[in-house]
Amino acid sequence: MKKHLLSVMVAAGLASVAGNSLAYEAGDVVVRAGYASVEPDADPSSSLKGLDVDDGDALGITGTYMLSDNIGLGLLVATPFNHDITLDGVGKIGDTDQLPPTLTLQYVPQLNLGGFQPYAGIGVNYTNFFNEDLKGGGDLKLSDSWGVAGELGADVQIGQNWLLNAAVWYIDIDTDVKINGSKVGSVDVDPWVYMIGAGYRF
Ligand code: NI
Repeated sequence: MKKHLLSVMVAAGLASVAGNSLAYEAGDVVVRAGYASVEPDADPSSSLKGLDVDDGDALGITGTYMLSDNIGLGLLVATPFNHDITLDGVGKIGDTDQLPPTLTLQYVPQLNLGGFQPYAGIGVNYTNFFNEDLKGGGDLKLSDSWGVAGELGADVQIGQNWLLNAAVWYIDIDTDVKINGSKVGSVDVDPWVYMIGAGYRF
């Protein structure tokens, strides 16, 4: 997925050379939709050694509202991501759904790169876990998480208002794990999130 995203961005950068100027302005709204993948880099507490969280994918939707010519307010939302929960030597022991809405303040540099418009953001993520399920029975509950999120992305103009987009986030997501009401440990989920899609500038 990482290599894939990189080649899309390189191709998009080359394609943009012939494009018109995309320069964003205060008041612009950009809405994008596409394939999003949440790829955890899970680090469980010692009491949950061997536990891992697999990748999940969903429909991602992002928006940018330009507060000035250089600063945007960015929002990431999605349909629910489903992740398998696995244990070393055992395999799948359960799964969970989650929604990770993320709000960022974006720096949108005016680089005059034709139709190629990169941006970088930092902000806050709230992740809600739900539909947690343990294969072997028992009531699994993962606590919700507030954390910092960083973001890099780029839009490539493909028409008067249409664009292609690629973006990546690193999000600090930590959750407490409860089984039958008792805390049994915690997991730093800390995923990379990738999205490729198309967008429209209003
Ligand atoms: Ni963390």
